[in-house]
Amino acid sequence: MKISVLRTPHPRVFPNVDELGFGRYFADHMFLMNYDQENGWHDPRVVPYETLGLDPANLTLHYGQTIFEGLKAFRWNDGSVNLFRVNDHVQRFSRSAAHLCIPAFEEDVVLEGIKRLVDVDRNWVPAQRGTALYLRPTLIATDNALGVRPSKTYMMFIICSPVGNYYAKGMAPTRILVEQRYSRAAHGGLGDAKTAANYAASLLAAEEAKRKGFDQVLWLDADTHNYAEEVGTMNIFFVINGVLVTPPLGGTILDGITRRTVLALASEWGIPTQERPISMHEVTQAHADGTLQEVFGSGTAAVISQVGELYYQDRPLVIEEKPGSLRERLYKAITGIQYGEITDTHHWITPVPVATNGNGNGHAKKELAESLGGDVSGGH
Ligand code: COI
Repeated sequence: MKISVLRTPHPRVFPNVDELGFGRYFADHMFLMNYDQENGWHDPRVVPYETLGLDPANLTLHYGQTIFEGLKAFRWNDGSVNLFRVNDHVQRFSRSAAHLCIPAFEEDVVLEGIKRLVDVDRNWVPAQRGTALYLRPTLIATDNALGVRPSKTYMMFIICSPVGNYYAKGMAPTRILVEQRYSRAAHGGLGDAKTAANYAASLLAAEEAKRKGFDQVLWLDADTHNYAEEVGTMNIFFVINGVLVTPPLGGTILDGITRRTVLALASEWGIPTQERPISMHEVTQAHADGTLQEVFGSGTAAVISQVGELYYQDRPLVIEEKPGSLRERLYKAITGIQYGEITDTHHWITPVPVATNGNGNGHAKKELAESLGGDVSGGH
Protein backbone atom coordinates (compact mmCIF):
# COMPACT_ATOMS: atom_id res chain seq x y z
CA MET A 1 0.00 0.00 0.00
CA LYS A 2 1.42 3.36 -1.02
CA ILE A 3 1.65 5.93 1.78
CA SER A 4 1.08 9.48 0.55
CA VAL A 5 2.69 12.47 2.28
CA LEU A 6 1.27 15.98 2.54
CA ARG A 7 3.53 18.41 4.36
CA THR A 8 2.27 21.29 6.44
CA PRO A 9 2.86 24.78 5.05
CA HIS A 10 2.84 26.05 8.67
CA PRO A 11 5.50 24.26 10.75
CA ARG A 12 5.28 24.93 14.48
CA VAL A 13 8.05 26.30 16.66
CA PHE A 14 9.90 23.63 18.64
CA PRO A 15 9.38 24.12 22.40
CA ASN A 16 12.16 24.69 24.92
CA VAL A 17 13.81 21.28 25.28
CA ASP A 18 14.14 21.66 29.05
CA GLU A 19 10.40 22.06 29.40
CA LEU A 20 9.19 19.16 27.28
CA GLY A 21 7.68 17.10 30.12
CA PHE A 22 5.63 14.21 28.79
CA GLY A 23 3.04 14.49 26.01
CA ARG A 24 2.54 18.24 26.18
CA TYR A 25 3.71 19.19 22.68
CA PHE A 26 2.92 17.62 19.34
CA ALA A 27 4.88 17.48 16.11
CA ASP A 28 3.73 18.90 12.79
CA HIS A 29 2.34 15.76 11.16
CA MET A 30 0.24 12.68 11.82
CA PHE A 31 -0.38 9.35 10.13
CA LEU A 32 -3.94 8.40 9.23
CA MET A 33 -5.57 5.29 7.79
CA ASN A 34 -9.23 4.31 7.56
CA TYR A 35 -11.24 1.11 7.57
CA ASP A 36 -14.65 0.27 6.17
CA GLN A 37 -16.14 -3.06 5.20
CA GLU A 38 -16.05 -2.32 1.47
CA ASN A 39 -12.42 -1.19 1.22
CA GLY A 40 -10.78 -2.78 4.27
CA TRP A 41 -7.89 -0.73 5.64
CA HIS A 42 -7.13 1.92 3.06
CA ASP A 43 -5.62 5.32 2.29
CA PRO A 44 -2.57 5.31 4.60
CA ARG A 45 -1.24 8.85 4.62
CA VAL A 46 0.96 11.34 6.43
CA VAL A 47 -0.80 14.70 6.74
CA PRO A 48 -0.48 17.89 8.78
CA TYR A 49 -1.56 17.42 12.44
CA GLU A 50 -5.24 18.23 12.61
CA THR A 51 -8.32 17.82 14.81
CA LEU A 52 -10.52 14.80 14.13
CA GLY A 53 -14.02 16.33 14.15
CA LEU A 54 -15.92 13.45 15.79
CA ASP A 55 -19.70 13.09 15.77
CA PRO A 56 -21.15 13.16 19.33
CA ALA A 57 -22.56 9.66 18.67
CA ASN A 58 -19.09 8.27 17.89
CA LEU A 59 -18.95 4.74 19.33
CA THR A 60 -15.50 5.15 20.89
CA LEU A 61 -16.67 8.06 23.00
CA HIS A 62 -19.47 5.95 24.47
CA TYR A 63 -18.15 2.42 24.74
CA GLY A 64 -14.37 2.75 24.51
CA GLN A 65 -13.63 0.54 21.52
CA THR A 66 -10.14 1.90 21.12
CA ILE A 67 -6.51 0.80 21.48
CA PHE A 68 -3.15 2.51 21.53
CA GLU A 69 0.60 2.00 21.64
CA GLY A 70 3.52 4.03 22.94
CA LEU A 71 7.01 3.81 21.49
CA LYS A 72 10.00 6.05 21.05
CA ALA A 73 12.35 7.34 18.35
CA PHE A 74 15.81 8.46 19.51
CA ARG A 75 18.29 10.89 17.99
CA TRP A 76 21.80 9.42 18.00
CA ASN A 77 25.03 11.39 18.16
CA ASP A 78 25.59 10.85 14.43
CA GLY A 79 22.28 12.64 13.78
CA SER A 80 20.40 9.49 12.72
CA VAL A 81 16.94 8.72 14.10
CA ASN A 82 16.22 5.22 15.40
CA LEU A 83 13.16 3.40 16.72
CA PHE A 84 13.33 1.01 19.69
CA ARG A 85 11.58 -2.37 19.32
CA VAL A 86 9.07 -0.99 16.85
CA ASN A 87 8.17 -4.47 15.53
CA ASP A 88 7.20 -5.61 19.03
CA HIS A 89 5.02 -2.55 19.51
CA VAL A 90 3.24 -3.06 16.19
CA GLN A 91 2.66 -6.74 17.01
CA ARG A 92 1.18 -5.82 20.39
CA PHE A 93 -1.01 -3.22 18.65
CA SER A 94 -2.36 -6.11 16.50
CA ARG A 95 -3.06 -8.26 19.56
CA SER A 96 -4.87 -5.41 21.29
CA ALA A 97 -6.95 -4.89 18.12
CA ALA A 98 -8.03 -8.55 18.10
CA HIS A 99 -9.04 -8.30 21.79
CA LEU A 100 -11.21 -5.24 21.09
CA CYS A 101 -12.94 -6.79 18.00
CA ILE A 102 -11.11 -4.39 15.69
CA PRO A 103 -10.37 -5.73 12.16
CA ALA A 104 -6.76 -6.81 11.58
CA PHE A 105 -4.43 -4.46 9.72
CA GLU A 106 -1.23 -5.17 7.79
CA GLU A 107 1.56 -4.71 10.30
CA ASP A 108 4.00 -3.80 7.50
CA VAL A 109 1.83 -0.83 6.51
CA VAL A 110 1.80 0.47 10.09
CA LEU A 111 5.55 -0.09 10.35
CA GLU A 112 6.13 1.80 7.13
CA GLY A 113 3.69 4.51 8.23
CA ILE A 114 5.65 5.00 11.46
CA LYS A 115 8.92 5.32 9.54
CA ARG A 116 7.47 7.80 7.03
CA LEU A 117 5.88 9.89 9.75
CA VAL A 118 9.05 10.04 11.84
CA ASP A 119 11.05 10.85 8.72
CA VAL A 120 8.73 13.75 7.87
CA ASP A 121 8.85 15.00 11.49
CA ARG A 122 12.56 14.18 11.81
CA ASN A 123 13.45 17.61 13.11
CA TRP A 124 11.04 17.03 16.03
CA VAL A 125 13.27 14.30 17.46
CA PRO A 126 15.15 16.03 20.31
CA ALA A 127 18.85 15.27 20.76
CA GLN A 128 19.40 15.74 24.47
CA ARG A 129 20.07 12.61 26.58
CA GLY A 130 16.84 11.59 28.31
CA THR A 131 14.61 12.98 25.56
CA ALA A 132 12.92 11.21 22.64
CA LEU A 133 10.11 11.51 20.14
CA TYR A 134 7.25 9.53 21.71
CA LEU A 135 4.90 8.00 19.15
CA ARG A 136 1.29 7.30 19.98
CA PRO A 137 -0.38 4.95 17.47
CA THR A 138 -4.10 4.97 18.25
CA LEU A 139 -7.08 3.22 16.71
CA ILE A 140 -10.68 4.28 17.26
CA ALA A 141 -14.13 3.15 16.19
CA THR A 142 -15.82 5.69 13.92
CA ASP A 143 -19.41 4.47 13.56
CA ASN A 144 -21.96 6.92 14.89
CA ALA A 145 -24.44 4.77 16.80
CA LEU A 146 -25.57 4.03 20.33
CA GLY A 147 -26.11 0.27 20.10
CA VAL A 148 -23.44 -1.66 22.00
CA ARG A 149 -21.60 -3.55 19.23
CA PRO A 150 -18.27 -3.46 17.42
CA SER A 151 -18.02 -0.61 14.95
CA LYS A 152 -18.03 -1.28 11.21
CA THR A 153 -15.67 1.61 10.48
CA TYR A 154 -12.39 2.67 12.12
CA MET A 155 -9.63 5.24 11.99
CA MET A 156 -6.00 4.66 12.88
CA PHE A 157 -3.85 7.66 13.67
CA ILE A 158 -0.33 8.16 14.91
CA ILE A 159 0.78 11.37 16.58
CA CYS A 160 4.27 12.30 17.80
CA SER A 161 5.31 14.16 20.92
CA PRO A 162 8.83 15.27 21.83
CA VAL A 163 9.25 14.17 25.46
CA GLY A 164 11.55 14.42 28.45
CA ASN A 165 10.94 12.78 31.82
CA TYR A 166 7.64 10.99 32.41
CA TYR A 167 7.47 11.89 36.09
CA ALA A 168 7.58 15.61 36.86
CA LYS A 169 10.05 14.91 39.67
CA GLY A 170 12.43 13.23 37.20
CA MET A 171 14.29 10.06 38.17
CA ALA A 172 13.79 10.37 41.95
CA PRO A 173 12.56 7.20 43.74
CA THR A 174 8.78 7.00 43.90
CA ARG A 175 6.52 6.51 46.92
CA ILE A 176 3.92 3.89 46.11
CA LEU A 177 0.67 3.07 47.91
CA VAL A 178 -0.19 -0.63 47.79
CA GLU A 179 -3.79 -0.52 46.56
CA GLN A 180 -6.10 -2.77 48.56
CA ARG A 181 -9.51 -1.55 47.50
CA TYR A 182 -9.59 -0.83 43.77
CA SER A 183 -8.57 -3.25 41.00
CA ARG A 184 -7.03 -2.49 37.64
CA ALA A 185 -7.96 -5.68 35.79
CA ALA A 186 -9.67 -9.01 36.43
CA HIS A 187 -9.12 -12.45 34.91
CA GLY A 188 -10.85 -12.69 31.54
CA GLY A 189 -10.88 -8.91 31.21
CA LEU A 190 -8.88 -6.42 29.20
CA GLY A 191 -5.78 -6.12 31.40
CA ASP A 192 -3.34 -7.38 28.77
CA ALA A 193 -4.69 -5.10 26.01
CA LYS A 194 -3.41 -1.56 25.62
CA THR A 195 -6.83 0.01 25.72
CA ALA A 196 -8.30 3.14 27.28
CA ALA A 197 -10.50 1.21 29.73
CA ASN A 198 -7.48 0.01 31.74
CA TYR A 199 -6.25 3.55 32.18
CA ALA A 200 -9.75 4.84 33.01
CA ALA A 201 -9.95 2.11 35.67
CA SER A 202 -6.71 3.36 37.19
CA LEU A 203 -7.59 7.04 37.61
CA LEU A 204 -9.54 7.12 40.88
CA ALA A 205 -7.04 4.98 42.81
CA ALA A 206 -4.12 7.05 41.49
CA GLU A 207 -5.83 10.33 42.38
CA GLU A 208 -6.63 9.16 45.89
CA ALA A 209 -3.04 7.98 46.33
CA LYS A 210 -1.70 11.33 45.10
CA ARG A 211 -3.95 13.16 47.55
CA LYS A 212 -2.30 11.13 50.30
CA GLY A 213 1.16 12.17 49.06
CA PHE A 214 2.08 9.09 47.01
CA ASP A 215 3.23 9.07 43.38
CA GLN A 216 1.28 6.02 42.26
CA VAL A 217 -0.26 2.74 43.38
CA LEU A 218 0.90 -0.85 43.32
CA TRP A 219 -1.93 -2.85 41.76
CA LEU A 220 -2.71 -6.19 43.37
CA ASP A 221 -4.67 -9.04 41.79
CA ALA A 222 -8.42 -8.42 41.69
CA ASP A 223 -9.33 -11.83 43.19
CA THR A 224 -7.42 -11.79 46.48
CA HIS A 225 -5.69 -8.39 46.67
CA ASN A 226 -2.59 -10.22 47.73
CA TYR A 227 -0.37 -10.60 44.65
CA ALA A 228 1.55 -7.75 42.99
CA GLU A 229 0.54 -7.03 39.39
CA GLU A 230 1.63 -3.61 38.07
CA VAL A 231 2.89 -0.32 39.45
CA GLY A 232 0.98 2.67 38.09
CA THR A 233 1.13 2.19 34.31
CA MET A 234 4.30 0.10 34.51
CA ASN A 235 5.31 -3.52 35.00
CA ILE A 236 6.77 -4.28 38.44
CA PHE A 237 10.08 -5.95 39.32
CA PHE A 238 11.51 -7.05 42.67
CA VAL A 239 15.08 -8.09 43.42
CA ILE A 240 14.85 -10.56 46.28
CA ASN A 241 18.04 -12.19 47.49
CA GLY A 242 19.76 -11.67 44.14
CA VAL A 243 16.84 -13.00 42.07
CA LEU A 244 14.93 -10.73 39.69
CA VAL A 245 11.23 -11.54 40.11
CA THR A 246 8.24 -10.20 38.17
CA PRO A 247 4.61 -11.37 38.05
CA PRO A 248 3.75 -13.75 35.18
CA LEU A 249 1.66 -12.64 32.21
CA GLY A 250 -1.72 -14.22 32.55
CA GLY A 251 -4.25 -11.88 31.02
CA THR A 252 -4.36 -9.22 33.72
CA ILE A 253 -0.90 -7.75 33.09
CA LEU A 254 0.37 -5.85 30.06
CA ASP A 255 3.09 -7.66 28.12
CA GLY A 256 5.47 -4.71 28.44
CA ILE A 257 8.18 -4.28 25.84
CA THR A 258 10.52 -2.80 28.46
CA ARG A 259 9.58 -5.74 30.74
CA ARG A 260 10.76 -8.12 28.01
CA THR A 261 13.92 -6.07 27.55
CA VAL A 262 14.69 -6.19 31.29
CA LEU A 263 14.18 -9.97 31.43
CA ALA A 264 16.33 -10.54 28.32
CA LEU A 265 19.25 -8.42 29.55
CA ALA A 266 19.21 -9.80 33.10
CA SER A 267 19.22 -13.40 31.81
CA GLU A 268 22.14 -12.61 29.51
CA TRP A 269 24.05 -11.19 32.46
CA GLY A 270 23.56 -14.44 34.34
CA ILE A 271 21.14 -12.97 36.85
CA PRO A 272 18.48 -15.49 37.89
CA THR A 273 15.04 -14.31 36.72
CA GLN A 274 11.62 -15.63 37.69
CA GLU A 275 8.19 -14.87 36.29
CA ARG A 276 5.95 -16.02 39.11
CA PRO A 277 3.29 -14.74 41.50
CA ILE A 278 4.69 -12.51 44.28
CA SER A 279 2.47 -12.08 47.33
CA MET A 280 2.55 -9.05 49.60
CA HIS A 281 3.29 -11.52 52.39
CA GLU A 282 6.50 -12.48 50.58
CA VAL A 283 7.41 -8.83 49.93
CA THR A 284 6.82 -7.88 53.58
CA GLN A 285 8.78 -10.89 54.78
CA ALA A 286 11.69 -10.13 52.41
CA HIS A 287 11.70 -6.54 53.62
CA ALA A 288 11.76 -7.68 57.26
CA ASP A 289 14.64 -10.11 56.76
CA GLY A 290 16.64 -7.67 54.61
CA THR A 291 16.49 -9.64 51.34
CA LEU A 292 14.27 -7.13 49.48
CA GLN A 293 17.10 -5.39 47.64
CA GLU A 294 15.32 -3.45 44.90
CA VAL A 295 11.88 -2.62 43.55
CA PHE A 296 11.35 -0.85 40.24
CA GLY A 297 8.84 -0.34 37.47
CA SER A 298 9.49 -0.69 33.74
CA GLY A 299 7.71 1.01 30.86
CA THR A 300 8.34 2.80 27.60
CA ALA A 301 7.57 6.24 28.97
CA ALA A 302 9.75 6.24 32.12
CA VAL A 303 12.05 3.31 31.09
CA ILE A 304 12.98 2.16 34.62
CA SER A 305 11.55 3.87 37.68
CA GLN A 306 12.92 3.21 41.15
CA VAL A 307 10.42 2.51 43.91
CA GLY A 308 11.72 3.97 47.17
CA GLU A 309 8.77 3.07 49.37
CA LEU A 310 5.84 0.68 49.33
CA TYR A 311 3.15 1.76 51.79
CA TYR A 312 1.26 -1.37 52.85
CA GLN A 313 -1.34 -1.82 55.58
CA ASP A 314 -0.46 1.50 57.24
CA ARG A 315 3.25 0.77 57.28
CA PRO A 316 5.99 2.11 55.00
CA LEU A 317 8.36 -0.47 53.56
CA VAL A 318 11.38 1.62 52.63
CA ILE A 319 13.63 0.09 50.01
CA GLU A 320 17.19 1.36 50.24
CA GLU A 321 18.99 0.50 47.05
CA LYS A 322 22.74 -0.13 47.32
CA PRO A 323 25.22 1.44 44.84
CA GLY A 324 25.68 -0.68 41.72
CA SER A 325 22.03 -1.70 41.68
CA LEU A 326 20.57 -3.89 38.97
CA ARG A 327 18.07 -1.10 38.26
CA GLU A 328 20.88 1.30 37.46
CA ARG A 329 22.70 -1.25 35.33
CA LEU A 330 19.51 -1.98 33.39
CA TYR A 331 18.74 1.70 32.92
CA LYS A 332 22.22 2.37 31.56
CA ALA A 333 22.11 -0.65 29.26
CA ILE A 334 18.65 0.04 27.86
CA THR A 335 19.21 3.75 27.29
CA GLY A 336 22.72 3.00 25.97
CA ILE A 337 21.20 0.77 23.29
CA GLN A 338 18.41 3.27 22.60
CA TYR A 339 20.87 6.12 22.03
CA GLY A 340 23.28 4.00 19.97
CA GLU A 341 26.08 4.06 22.55
CA ILE A 342 25.96 0.29 23.10
CA THR A 343 25.91 -2.13 20.17
CA ASP A 344 22.46 -3.51 19.50
CA THR A 345 23.02 -7.27 19.37
CA HIS A 346 19.28 -8.03 19.69
CA HIS A 347 17.95 -6.30 16.55
CA TRP A 348 15.90 -3.98 18.76
CA ILE A 349 16.89 -0.88 16.77
CA THR A 350 15.25 0.13 13.47
CA PRO A 351 16.78 3.13 11.72
CA VAL A 352 14.37 5.63 10.17
CA PRO A 353 15.61 6.04 6.62
CA VAL A 354 15.73 9.46 5.00
CA ALA A 355 13.41 9.33 1.99
CA THR A 356 15.11 10.43 -1.19
CA ASN A 357 12.40 9.74 -3.78
CA GLY A 358 9.35 11.85 -4.69
CA ASN A 359 6.04 11.54 -2.81
CA GLY A 360 6.51 14.81 -1.03
CA ASN A 361 9.73 13.75 0.61
CA GLY A 362 12.27 15.13 -1.81
CA HIS A 363 13.48 17.68 0.73
CA ALA A 364 14.06 15.24 3.55
CA LYS A 365 17.84 15.09 3.21
CA LYS A 366 18.14 18.86 3.01
CA GLU A 367 15.80 19.16 5.98
CA LEU A 368 17.90 16.74 8.04
CA ALA A 369 21.03 18.72 7.27
CA GLU A 370 19.23 21.87 8.28
CA SER A 371 17.87 20.32 11.46
CA LEU A 372 21.28 19.11 12.52
CA GLY A 373 23.13 22.31 11.82
CA GLY A 374 20.40 24.91 11.97
CA ASP A 375 18.21 26.59 14.51
CA VAL A 376 15.41 24.07 14.73
CA SER A 377 17.21 21.26 16.54
CA GLY A 378 20.25 23.19 17.65
CA GLY A 379 18.71 23.76 21.05
CA HIS A 380 17.31 20.25 21.62
C1 COI B 1 4.40 3.42 29.53
O1 COI B 1 5.01 3.24 30.56
O2 COI B 1 4.96 3.46 28.46
C2 COI B 1 2.96 3.61 29.57
O3 COI B 1 2.24 2.77 29.20
C3 COI B 1 2.50 4.90 30.08
C4 COI B 1 1.67 5.63 29.09
C5 COI B 1 0.26 5.19 29.14
C6 COI B 1 1.79 7.09 29.31
